[in-house]
Amino acid sequence: MKRFAIAALLTTLAAAPALADSAGPAPKPAARGAAAISGFMAHFPFEGGQAVYEGVCQGCHMPGAVGAVGAGAYPALAKDENLETGAYPVLLILKGQKAMPGFSMQLDDKQIADVVNYVRTHFGNHYSDKVSVDDVKAMR
Ligand code: HEC
Repeated sequence: MKRFAIAALLTTLAAAPALADSAGPAPKPAARGAAAISGFMAHFPFEGGQAVYEGVCQGCHMPGAVGAVGAGAYPALAKDENLETGAYPVLLILKGQKAMPGFSMQLDDKQIADVVNYVRTHFGNHYSDKVSVDDVKAMR
């Protein structure tokens, strides 16, 4: 499971800069990705929903959460009706799904609540009911 997750992350990070270049201004995913990889087995240090998104999620879901198709298919989180239920992204981040690894070891309850609340209120999403730290804890 862990081996697979790392392989998926490496594959993605290798593909991300090329995809970013073709999409416009380069957002430096490689630099952030390197930071994420060096601490992959450990707790990620990012604080706040935006920092967690940029440090952990953006390498696959891309700046603006527009998604990508390259080494794999990464769904857009922008204007994503599947985010209507807050529990859905929480579960995905905790457990992973198919080519998305779970991050239950690397992100604590607050980081997960923060990034879910961030994604659900940015990128054209307007779901203002917040996921709480206790909601995340209960789903572990
Ligand atoms: C290694 C690449 C990768 C990373 C890192 C990643 N994801 Fe994903 N994500 C995916 C893939 C691939 C899918 C599609 C999974 C499937 O096929 O069911 C996905 C699916 C999702 C979905 C479901 C979208 C929908 O419309 O059903 C959400 C929500 C999501 N990711 C949120 C996040 C968040 C938030 C983070 C950061 C904490 C994150 N992802 C990090 C690859 C990634």
